[in-house]
Amino acid sequence: MRNQPIGVMDSGVGGLTVVSEIWRQLPREEVLFYGDSARCPYGDRPAAEIASFTFRALDFLVEQGVKMLVIACNTATAVCLEWARERYDIPVLGVIAPGARAAIAATTNQRVGIIGTRTTIASNSYPRALHLTHRGIETFPVACPLFVALVEQGITAAAEALPVVTESLREFSGANIDTLILGCTHYPLLAEIIQQAVGPGVTLINSAEETARDVSFVLADNQMTRTHAAKPNHVFLTSGDVGKFADIGGKWLGKPVQVGYYDVWEGDERSDAAGV
Ligand code: DGL
Repeated sequence: MRNQPIGVMDSGVGGLTVVSEIWRQLPREEVLFYGDSARCPYGDRPAAEIASFTFRALDFLVEQGVKMLVIACNTATAVCLEWARERYDIPVLGVIAPGARAAIAATTNQRVGIIGTRTTIASNSYPRALHLTHRGIETFPVACPLFVALVEQGITAAAEALPVVTESLREFSGANIDTLILGCTHYPLLAEIIQQAVGPGVTLINSAEETARDVSFVLADNQMTRTHAAKPNHVFLTSGDVGKFADIGGKWLGKPVQVGYYDVWEGDERSDAAGV
């Protein structure tokens, strides 16, 4: 079991930000990634639909024999993490608690902005996670529904993305936040532009780093660290455009990645019902 891959899922390419940290912190581990770009964005969908998509993807990863699940999507974490922990008998990690923890460590004035999809912001998951540990944190949540589409289309250059990002983050002017949680795994791909928009005095929190640290602890605590001498053979699957995924993956992970097409709903009536 310990030599099986870590299963990572996201609604699209955003989860690659978590994979990149897993590679950095746990270079011996093997990753099986499923990105559901065919149904992205999840963030504007009803919770029941997000749950149905997420569990189908997680069930698929479990069927492939992964030793652990990482829900590398804030939206899916907000809706599904607790159920997923009941459903599977392997460890399941999300990205919200790690992001909240990193923000508490970073803030000095206890004024923390949170950006995420509409579902993540409406779920109130980040303020809850922050207040569980630190009641004195003042939170400023703002939904940024346009960012995911920019990233999925590979539009991450300032010339095109800065006007949209600046407009979406206008609400923070005057809020005096010193820390901003990137509460969507797609957003670190826009980090430079987000930083430009909010100014250099605001620390951006990318929960990927802290999530990979959690992965590391859980593997060590459960004697699940990979011991195989062979180099890890990572597998990336997307239900969307393979070329686009490979482009963004290569850029973000710093080396070319082999990407395969796979849709967990293929041949299933449910994919028609979901309007895919
Ligand atoms: N990357 C996902 C997240 O962290 C969501 C993007 C989406 O599908 O809306 O919330």
